[in-house]
Amino acid sequence: MLSAIVALSITFGSVFGIPLADQVAQLRLAPTAVDRINALADKQFVFDFLNPPSGDTPGVIPGKTTGAGGHTVEAFAGNFPATIGNGVAMTVGFLGPCAINTPHTHPRATEVNYSVNGTLRTGLLAENGARFIVNDLPPGAMTVFPQGAIHFEMNNGCEPAMFIAGFNHEDPGVLQVAHRFFGLPIDIVGATLGDIGIQEVDGLAHLVGTLSTIPDNVAVGTDECLKRCGIARPAAQPTTQQQPRLAGNAFL
Ligand SMILES: *[C@@H]1O[C@H](CO)[C@@H](O)[C@H](O)[C@H]1NC(C)=O
Ligand SMILES: *[C@@H]1O[C@H](CO)[C@@H](O)[C@H](O)[C@H]1NC(C)=O
Repeated sequence: MLSAIVALSITFGSVFGIPLADQVAQLRLAPTAVDRINALADKQFVFDFLNPPSGDTPGVIPGKTTGAGGHTVEAFAGNFPATIGNGVAMTVGFLGPCAINTPHTHPRATEVNYSVNGTLRTGLLAENGARFIVNDLPPGAMTVFPQGAIHFEMNNGCEPAMFIAGFNHEDPGVLQVAHRFFGLPIDIVGATLGDIGIQEVDGLAHLVGTLSTIPDNVAVGTDECLKRCGIARPAAQPTTQQQPRLAGNAFL
């Protein structure tokens, strides 16, 4: 009976437009995988990375991350309910020339990352003690980033490039190292960097108040690449993704 109710409400939900968050919650409550499969319409097993679905917040595409260098689209539990209970997610990235997906970790998933049509420079720095790994990924090659490891990827070419990343978790999560680290209390950041002082930390990332110079991901990459490709670095990049500081925080 419960499964019938779940099935009906989810199926009708897709028709009548109940909030995505409610659909996800109902699928998580479904007693079995069979109930989940039966609750979803055929078309809900398809995710279109070129036209990702809108979510519950007007104007916000869940799973889409855009910066000056390009954008990525993630299909995961939050926007693609068919992944629920299946432990997988996928991101497709559209990187402009010299664009960099800035150093980040996935707290709950190992990633395999396949270069479709560009040469991608990848770096991997896992836990304390592990050495740094760097590679160029030509079209058709893939690499692996262990769960929790810091990694970055840059389109080292002068043409746009596309990659596909698979994850062994339906909600991999992402932690952008600079966006998060420089969102910590400024005196803690200063002490962590060898007590370089609040003014210097501010100089590094304009962190007093909520201002930031840390560019949104996907960001514009290295000077060497831009010069080689004859591309001018933009005067400014959007900076909305950094962890904000609270006004009135004693540590500002
Ligand atoms: C996959 O690798 C490419 C290039 O190496 C990189 O730009 C991209 O950000 C990686 N994907 C993810 C989801 O980390
Ligand atoms: C790679 O594929 C993307 C998406 O189709 C396209 O925009 C880009 O121009 C392609 N790049 C190359 C080097 O073929």
